[in-house]
Amino acid sequence: MRASILVAVLTVGIMAISGGLFAADVPPAPKASTFAPAQDLVVAVDSYIERIGEALADANEFADLQSRVVKDAETVSVLALVLGLHDEDNSYKAAASELIKTSQAVAQASDYAAAKAAFEKLQAAKTAKGGAVTGWIRVASLKALMEQVPLVNSRLKRNLRRFDRQAEGIAVDAAVLAAIAQGSMANLDETIQPSNSEKWFAFCEQMRDAAAAVNKAARAKDEASAVTAERALAKSCDDCHAIFHPEGVGKTE
Ligand code: HEC
Repeated sequence: MRASILVAVLTVGIMAISGGLFAADVPPAPKASTFAPAQDLVVAVDSYIERIGEALADANEFADLQSRVVKDAETVSVLALVLGLHDEDNSYKAAASELIKTSQAVAQASDYAAAKAAFEKLQAAKTAKGGAVTGWIRVASLKALMEQVPLVNSRLKRNLRRFDRQAEGIAVDAAVLAAIAQGSMANLDETIQPSNSEKWFAFCEQMRDAAAAVNKAARAKDEASAVTAERALAKSCDDCHAIFHPEGVGKTE
């Protein structure tokens, strides 16, 4: 009797695991330095926070810029996550969990006053300490991240045409795309195929690694490699959209 109960419990347990009743865990990531140098992400965090501040300088402007503020704040959340888990020491490692919490509050603020109050906390969070980030958890909405990606990608492509002058900006944008790709793995549940974890993780990796190659080429001042890597990056957009965002195939500008 006891044995049969044990067998039943085990069987249900195994079915639950193989049937995907439990959310798929994000696969282990390589060291963040291999796809997004901490220094590039720190520069990006500063520039997104600065841009949010500009949008909040004036209540009338904010009405027009609120959707950009949401995208930028959600981007800060993901960048802070990667910096918190980063193998390279960096100025936001200790602040990461506060940066995530406060940038999420900025993204969720419903009006100008709330956004401004949340932004003050975000700025204070830059020097926060403690509250370590523990793993590749979901810190942003997939929709907001996927609205940010084409904007960053378009700027990156534009800058590729003036490679010598813009190598720095290309490297930073590529690191941001790599970080968003890695961070998006945790957003599987928000996709149209939440049970297709294998493909989702593989496409996120494909985008992350292609963006990482653009970053490395830009840092090496190697224009030809940067152009080749950018093509692989564009392919990753289309490959993923073919399955997870069919209406977006070919619309990566
Ligand atoms: C890992 C899969 C994946 C990769 C890689 C990917 N996307 Fe997406 N993309 C999506 C999904 C899923 C959505 C739909 C998000 C939603 O609305 O919830 C989307 C939405 C979009 C949208 C529509 C956003 C809107 O306004 O609603 C654009 C544009 C886009 N992606 C551009 C890109 C570009 C450019 C790249 C490559 C640099 C890229 N994507 C890489 C999965 C991906």
